[in-house]
Amino acid sequence: MRVMFTGGSGKAGKHVVAYLAAQGHRVLNVDRVPLRLAGVADLVADITDGAQMFNAMASHMDAAELDGGAAPPFDAVVHFAAIPALMLQPENETYRVNVMGTYNVLEAACKLGIRKVIIASSETTYGVCFSNGIVDPKVLPLEEDYDIDPMDSYGMSKKVNEATARGFQRRFGNDIYALRIGNVIEPQEYRSKFPGFFVDPGQRRRVTFSYIDARDLGQIVDLALKKDGLGFQVFNACNDTNSVCQSNQELLARFFPKVPLSRPLGSHESLLSNRKIRQVLGFQEQHNWRNYVDDPTL
Ligand SMILES: NC(=O)c1ccc[n+]([C@@H]2O[C@H](COP(=O)([O-])OP(=O)(O)OC[C@H]3O[C@@H](n4cnc5c(N)ncnc54)[C@H](O)[C@@H]3O)[C@@H](O)[C@H]2O)c1
Repeated sequence: MRVMFTGGSGKAGKHVVAYLAAQGHRVLNVDRVPLRLAGVADLVADITDGAQMFNAMASHMDAAELDGGAAPPFDAVVHFAAIPALMLQPENETYRVNVMGTYNVLEAACKLGIRKVIIASSETTYGVCFSNGIVDPKVLPLEEDYDIDPMDSYGMSKKVNEATARGFQRRFGNDIYALRIGNVIEPQEYRSKFPGFFVDPGQRRRVTFSYIDARDLGQIVDLALKKDGLGFQVFNACNDTNSVCQSNQELLARFFPKVPLSRPLGSHESLLSNRKIRQVLGFQEQHNWRNYVDDPTL
């Protein structure tokens, strides 16, 4: 597929773009800074400028396309560009960039007739990660039908983006899938971070102990590109198990003693559920942390 990808120079995007290119997709990375990855085209642009998004989606991506005459249409847009957390920029700026950037990308994609759009939402929409105080989820595991209620500007921006996506899908009848991405882990982070998580699992409470390998996120995006006809959808995007070595029995008793369970859980099953991406998209994780770090409980 010919894919326009926003935010492909970032932590998650660079792995996802590489994965998509390796699957044979032709990718134009649209970012404020170029990725400079062989085989991937770069266009420097700002998602908060709607005219630039319309223009980027109607552009050639390389000289070979110029030879062909008019720019061919994009088959899909994947939108990752954002301010990716709270406390990086003032809250109103985070909200402005994320909400208006996503509106601009969705509007341009839909009005230009692009039939598949995938946007990066976040596990923070569940209202635990960046909340004031030590907050319990209403129920576990966290599944896509949860009444999301974030109290911070980053989580609110992602919640609003899901609502905007749903509205555009209803108007244009294309497919728009929002991925509630878990805490992204790059390959080099297993050795540097996970042993510390095992000693002090409490530092993972705000992400309900979950994670997503950046390359497995690439697989999820690829599967979402290939799965047509679902209209508007929300998918949690995370790996099969928690990011700590402790069992759910221990984690729930220690960190979530008052939180009800909606169903029985596997001993290490991710508390941010990935059941929907496994069942609907056919996701099969390739990069569980146990491939890279010794499990001290074994
Ligand atoms: N990293 C995580 O753990 C995590 C978790 C959940 C969701 N997400 C979401 O996934 C996406 C990617 O996150 P990331 O961790 O790779 O973030 P990142 O900050 O590493 O990458 C974001 C990219 O977007 C670009 N960008 C920012 N503002 C822009 C603008 N105005 N115009 C054009 N490009 C702009 C940046 O240059 C950067 O390359 C984001 O939407 C983020 O909210 C990330």
